[in-house]
Amino acid sequence: MREDQKVATGRAPEPSGQAEQETTLSRMGWIGLGLSLAAAYGTFAAFLGRFLYPAGPPSRDWMFVVPVNHLAAGQSLRYQTPGGALVNITRRGEEATADAFVALSSTCPHLGCQVHWEGHRNRYFCPCHNGVFSPDGQATEGPPAKAGQALEKYPLKADGGLLYIEVPTAELALGEGKIITSPNDPPGPGHDPCLFTCSLRPFSQSSS
Ligand code: FES
Repeated sequence: MREDQKVATGRAPEPSGQAEQETTLSRMGWIGLGLSLAAAYGTFAAFLGRFLYPAGPPSRDWMFVVPVNHLAAGQSLRYQTPGGALVNITRRGEEATADAFVALSSTCPHLGCQVHWEGHRNRYFCPCHNGVFSPDGQATEGPPAKAGQALEKYPLKADGGLLYIEVPTAELALGEGKIITSPNDPPGPGHDPCLFTCSLRPFSQSSS
């Protein structure tokens, strides 16, 4: 509309096509900004919620291992949980209670070789680098002792003459655990069998 027409009609001029486009783009920009802010606040709220109300540890449950009298005092077996964790379960006393047993990871915290129980020496031994652990799993000699390491401990329960180990509840759906070595199986090599080959084979492989 020309200036003389505007004066004649007294109405504001119609917005041009370019002005309309700019207005639409500006609106879209504000909407985008609003959505971005909402998303940012949502993420922040989620982080804040997790910080204020952290998720608890995953639930755990009991899994049957063996009858209590399967092991005599001083004997040990290696057990694999359904999730694949390898555990030495050793009987330390005559009582038919969980306190008479101890369950310790058989995976050495140094470089992951398999640790076995040596009843005649009352200790756990790792043949890869001569690591030695006390009956309660604390490293006493070798590289794990220098690093102040210990074998991971698993809770046990004795009920009705049966021994149970605590595992994550999700593992119960994977099936049964299994016994890898029994009390009378040979304990495996007494000195370093893999100084040059340990890195070439899986650590979960039993050395016995
Ligand atoms: S892996 Fe056990 S002492 Fe090195």
